[in-house]
Amino acid sequence: MAKAKTKFVCQNCGYVSPKYLGRCPNCGVWNQMVEEIDHPEASKASATPSRRVSDLETKPVKLENVSFEKEPRVETELGELNRVLGGGIVPGSLILIGGDPGIGKSTLLTQVSGQLAKDGSKVLYVSGEESASQIKMRADRLGITGDNLYLYPQTDMSYIRQTIDDMRPDYLIIDSVQTMDEPEITSAVGSISQIREVTAELMNIAKQQNITVFVVGHVTKGGAIAGPKILEHMVDTVLYFEGDTHHSYRILRSVKNRFGSTNEIGIFEMRTKGLVEVANPSEIFLEERLADANGSAVVVSMEGTRPILVEIQSLITPTIFGNAKRTATGLDHNRVSVIMAVLEKRGNLMLQNQDAYLKSTGGVKLDEPAIDLALAMSIASSYKNLGISGTDCFVGEVGLTGEVRRVNRIDQRVNEAEKLGFKRIFIPKNNLGDWSKNNKIKIIGVTTVLDAMNKIF
Ligand code: TYD
Ligand code: MG
Repeated sequence: MAKAKTKFVCQNCGYVSPKYLGRCPNCGVWNQMVEEIDHPEASKASATPSRRVSDLETKPVKLENVSFEKEPRVETELGELNRVLGGGIVPGSLILIGGDPGIGKSTLLTQVSGQLAKDGSKVLYVSGEESASQIKMRADRLGITGDNLYLYPQTDMSYIRQTIDDMRPDYLIIDSVQTMDEPEITSAVGSISQIREVTAELMNIAKQQNITVFVVGHVTKGGAIAGPKILEHMVDTVLYFEGDTHHSYRILRSVKNRFGSTNEIGIFEMRTKGLVEVANPSEIFLEERLADANGSAVVVSMEGTRPILVEIQSLITPTIFGNAKRTATGLDHNRVSVIMAVLEKRGNLMLQNQDAYLKSTGGVKLDEPAIDLALAMSIASSYKNLGISGTDCFVGEVGLTGEVRRVNRIDQRVNEAEKLGFKRIFIPKNNLGDWSKNNKIKIIGVTTVLDAMNKIF
């Protein structure tokens, strides 16, 4: 008998090697190569999952003959979810929802299932992690009833396929892809080959039978959905559910969307009765702010197409011993270092012998250049021990020569700040030209960080 051929597959990126390697040459991670039996047929199928999908439409069509229909959208009751999906669920699409354990993926999908079922669609909730009674307990807690919601604790894909053929649901929920088992594949449940095969299978089901499929994917320690890149290119939409488990706010972010923009975020609050959408996030992020406190500056940051006001806090204290300490929560560490260096050199602040602790409030991650000015003013305020008025806010990118640079969407930012009752907004001088409408809020243009400090303190 011929010896069974094996291969080594990287569990992080899917790289295949004929021999064991300590470090994956493709993605560079260590100790992730796992031995799998090489099934030429299975591996061929899994290498080209998209081909099986497009078998359905094999004839080329002239561009002008393609009938243009706007894809129909099914709107859920959760407006924030609709927003992230680009206006609602596209029937027959496959949506992957990733996130840390306990963040609320199952809760979100149970709520959505309950509502879709109430509206008359047939929903099949397949769970590989919880028993039917556990899901029922959660559904009770969420106040979900409904004839059309079917719970199915199962991990074997061949049974699931059979059930789908018999039942013909409109929506299929797979919770989670890592627990599903394709019996034809010999490698362990949760391995790259398994996940890839299961996802390809689900994609087939979605496209051939026009069933909308939601797939839960767990996130690995590195922050990517296990088997990350491999899944992302196969599915239509990838959403990440993130947030701090210590805070009740959760942010749903779109990372890939074949049917809409990837800039949108949806904000939810986890309550005892499930996830509730947050319609006006700025108010919440500013809620507990101490007015006029030292080291606090408010920024108008864009999250997708939506402006959000968030407070940036700094605490600058003299270093007692050794090297100065710098920590940043919710802010990019490099950005903080650059801004501190700019303040030191261009703003004449002696920061090298100071410890700096910075955070954005409410557990939001701020990651856009337009937060620079607020960051700089917050640090300067704490260092100088001079408060910034609670009705001031800031937008602007700071360059290495200390100049304050133009930002995009200035009109939306100014309007949002005005809506929330701010009296003054400091913006880059170059942006003043973009903005001529009469506002109640006072708009002040600044050219450099030094200029901004002179105007504020
Ligand atoms: P869950 O949806 O099970 O997380 P995931 O599927 O992402 O692992 O959510 C788990 C957490 O949510 C759990 O700590 C309890 C909390 N929770 C609420 O606060 N309220 C609720 O109504 C529900 C159902 C869960
Ligand atoms: Mg879960």
